[in-house]
Amino acid sequence: MGATPEPFDLVLFGGTGDLAMRKLLPALYRRHCAGQLPPDGRIIATGRSEMTTPAFLSRVEEHFAETLSDEEFNSPDREDFTQRLSYQQVDASDVIGFDALGTALAGREQVTRVFYLAVAPQHFVTICQQLHAHDLVSANARVVLEKPLGHDLASAQRISEQIGEIFDEDAIYRIDHYLGKETVQNLIALRFGNMLFEPLWRREWVRDVQISVSEQVGVEGRAGFYDRTGALRDMVQNHLLQLLCIIAMEPPASIEANAVRDEKLKVLRALLPLSGQEALRNTVRGQYRAGAIEGAPVVGYQEEDGIERQSRTETFVAIRAELENWRWAGVPFYLRTGKRLQERSAEIIVNFRDVPHSIFDRTYSTGHPNRLVIKLQPDEGVRLHMLAKSPGDRMQLRPVSLDLDFAEAFQQRPADAYERLLMDVLRGRLTLFMRRDELYAAWRWIEPILEAWQESGEPPKPYTAGTWGPAASSALLGRENANWHEEA
Ligand code: BG6
Repeated sequence: MGATPEPFDLVLFGGTGDLAMRKLLPALYRRHCAGQLPPDGRIIATGRSEMTTPAFLSRVEEHFAETLSDEEFNSPDREDFTQRLSYQQVDASDVIGFDALGTALAGREQVTRVFYLAVAPQHFVTICQQLHAHDLVSANARVVLEKPLGHDLASAQRISEQIGEIFDEDAIYRIDHYLGKETVQNLIALRFGNMLFEPLWRREWVRDVQISVSEQVGVEGRAGFYDRTGALRDMVQNHLLQLLCIIAMEPPASIEANAVRDEKLKVLRALLPLSGQEALRNTVRGQYRAGAIEGAPVVGYQEEDGIERQSRTETFVAIRAELENWRWAGVPFYLRTGKRLQERSAEIIVNFRDVPHSIFDRTYSTGHPNRLVIKLQPDEGVRLHMLAKSPGDRMQLRPVSLDLDFAEAFQQRPADAYERLLMDVLRGRLTLFMRRDELYAAWRWIEPILEAWQESGEPPKPYTAGTWGPAASSALLGRENANWHEEA
């Protein structure tokens, strides 16, 4: 997977939180088992509670028992891994905690120092300021910021500017875990490592592109956060727009961070602005009502614990976006995401145009025979749909697909997104992290949509949990004679 990083100290703020326990520590453990962490690599978890390191370690063990496979959990490497871990009580507003952290880090100014902020964004600036005030921002220090990076453009700018006074832009790692997913990497390989698709990857040959991330889960105990946030900010502003960038960008001159980020930025800036009536015409927002997920009844959004009974927060969004550039002008990019939908799936679909004239019987009349399905989850792979002759004496065409299943092709477990991204942070590779101007450009496009929704005064459209969202979402595509992939 790449070179072993230099010795490091990784300080995990929010070290007892859900993300640390479910994703970050298991990811670090897996890289440890793969022999990817240097012997001199320490992980200092911090949290607001008073706790000893042994008490913290038994918490980690409990979570590992749930998260890891039996084989991983029972590996002798686990004991070794825990030697790397320690716990330190630090409260963003508590100066004493930072002093103690300083003592823990003292004398190791030469090693890579990573501050991973897996905490709510309102603490980002205070933590960075405290780190600075306690002289902990060494020359080798990096900071990792988890989303959400602000609530709107102004707050994103405020956070970025204040953190920018303490850390150089090249020391700031803004995580979007979708960019760490194996298939997203593969999408880059597919587009820029092969000659096959690139000539077709443009308006002349592509009819539409769909980016769809559907979830079966609801608000998962994050009611307070989610009700203030909604699907547009939680998923579209970051994950879906980043996928859009990778699918639509021009070939970068190299895989180097700024070469890729420059091209992604151009895509974000080319997005046709959606505001006022245009925003309302090209977006659908929905909110789930009671229904069933795979046969099990679930309550509606407004009945979830901690959600306001009259909440107007959207749990579903569909958008018809367009890019104003030569490559993509006029091609619809349909984006869709939602909670409590029928399936858990994330995929990108490139629908190619129909043949200009069919010489065959109209036995297969649904049109758009060629579509490329790039599957991010649950299974990772690429599927190319085409028409082939059905066996027999008649010239009858039937849809078939060429399937590439990555797990099967490579006989190897793909690394989890956080494994890759954490290793990139330790190695100092910024390619898969968002630059400040990308963040701003994404908010610039999102904000007028939020404003249009607000001004319209209309509530989100209801949909039954376990379906594919409100009917208006299908109608959005129906307008152009298209349909979402699942419903095809
Ligand atoms: C997070 C969102 O960024 O991504 C969550 O805050 C969402 O609401 C999650 O559930 C989805 O990630 P994944 O990797 O499970 O598709």
